[in-house]
Amino acid sequence: MSAFLEERVLTVHHWTDRLFSFTTTRDPALRFSNGHFTMIGLKVDGKPLLRAYSIASPNWEEHLEFLSIKVPDGPLTSRLQNIQVGDTIIVGKKPTGTLLIDYLLPGKNLYLIGTGTGLAPWLSIVRDPETYERFEKVIVVHGVREVNELAYQDLFEKELPNHEFLGEIVKDKLIYYPTVTREPFRNQGRITDLIENGTFPANIGLPPLDPLTDRVMLCGSPAMLADLKVMLEKRDFEEGNTSTPGDFVVERAFVEK
Ligand code: A2P
Repeated sequence: MSAFLEERVLTVHHWTDRLFSFTTTRDPALRFSNGHFTMIGLKVDGKPLLRAYSIASPNWEEHLEFLSIKVPDGPLTSRLQNIQVGDTIIVGKKPTGTLLIDYLLPGKNLYLIGTGTGLAPWLSIVRDPETYERFEKVIVVHGVREVNELAYQDLFEKELPNHEFLGEIVKDKLIYYPTVTREPFRNQGRITDLIENGTFPANIGLPPLDPLTDRVMLCGSPAMLADLKVMLEKRDFEEGNTSTPGDFVVERAFVEK
């Protein structure tokens, strides 16, 4: 039996010349937890060419959604960026990963910190009602270079607060904090610097990060993950994994080189 499913592209949205997202059909047999990633890709010369992608859609949704970079000479993304509605993509049958609320100890505030396509797993987690049962506040930080890379801004600012089932709880609990590093914007600077100089999370009315109350998930560029891990460990946060829950969990976002 094949380790892969074939799914059909339903929609494609190009955010910028570096970023796009798409939805596909979902085999009902594909089960996953919110925050998981799976291997996806294309058949090239009859062989599967696959990379790990976070599933951006929540697991109650009938379709699958992914957020991708576009790298002009990237083996997969140079091709994947040209997909059209009706095309076939391959999806691995075994989603996995560490960015699950189950791998965090109980806490009060959940910080979901992502840069670039590292936003993708939060798109699944913030649409999971269970997230709001476990935490009083859920804070999504999205760090990008330019304002137009703030993909899904409308989802956080308009759609989710007005969502049929999640709207009320989202209005009460979800805080969206976009920050831009290479252009003027209402929030500016690397998230690491904002935490270090005390701007964040004071500017959203929350106390400094504390392992007694706060839980953190990180997803994005390796440099950001390494820096934030050091900062959190200095503050006595302990890393969790699939076998031992902790105060924070980490996963790399796929960046094609
Ligand atoms: P910067 O513009 O200062 O490099 P990329 O598009 O390269 O994946 O970056 C996405 C965002 O992550 C950018 O805003 C970038 O800031 C930021 N970033 C890159 N490295 C780090 C790091 N070590 N710590 C915090 N943010 C980082």
